[in-house]
Amino acid sequence: MNTDPVAYIRQTIRSVPDWPKPGVTFRDITPVLQDPRSFRVLVDLFVYRYMRQRLDLVAGIDARGFILGSVLAYELNLGFVPVRKQGKLPHRTLSEDYSLEYGNAAVEMHDDAVKPGQRVLLIDDLIATGGTMLAATKLLQRLGANVVEAACIIDLPELKGSETITATGLPVYSVCQF
Ligand code: PRP
Ligand code: ADE
Repeated sequence: MNTDPVAYIRQTIRSVPDWPKPGVTFRDITPVLQDPRSFRVLVDLFVYRYMRQRLDLVAGIDARGFILGSVLAYELNLGFVPVRKQGKLPHRTLSEDYSLEYGNAAVEMHDDAVKPGQRVLLIDDLIATGGTMLAATKLLQRLGANVVEAACIIDLPELKGSETITATGLPVYSVCQF
């Protein structure tokens, strides 16, 4: 068994070739969630990183960002805000379009989800082109949030998403890279 926490998480991630379309290797975090040891190590890595950062909220991106983000918000005693795919939120929303490695989409937030000046950690499972994180950041910033960092489990550096996000002035943290 690997005793390096990051190596342990990385080796637990499943790579699925040609999904959801030919040429894309899907990095699947479900084995990490399924294994109590890797799930705990993963959450603890984020807890140690953010426990001293004076955050107000964790914003998690639909859908896998909800799993990690809500556990992290609970552990850090913070509120949780869902950034949802289009058409899912019942109250007044703000919307941002973006493009993906394999398509186009839009994310939405309730317009009262964040108060101006609140310090928000944005979290998702993975950064590929960075379009999703950037669209979510724009939503949060339109509400006056101070987005402190964009955090993920997996970065795909070849797709240059994390580089693009960092170039906007928003720091990026990833547990591992593929
Ligand atoms: C995946 C992943 C991120 C996003 C990253 O979600 O969970 O949210 O893609 O890609 P990007 O950096 O190019 O924007 P996906 O859009 O496949 O949606 P899902 O959560 O419904 O599977
Ligand atoms: N989202 C965008 N690209 C992805 C990939 N290669 N694996 C998992 N989620 C993704």
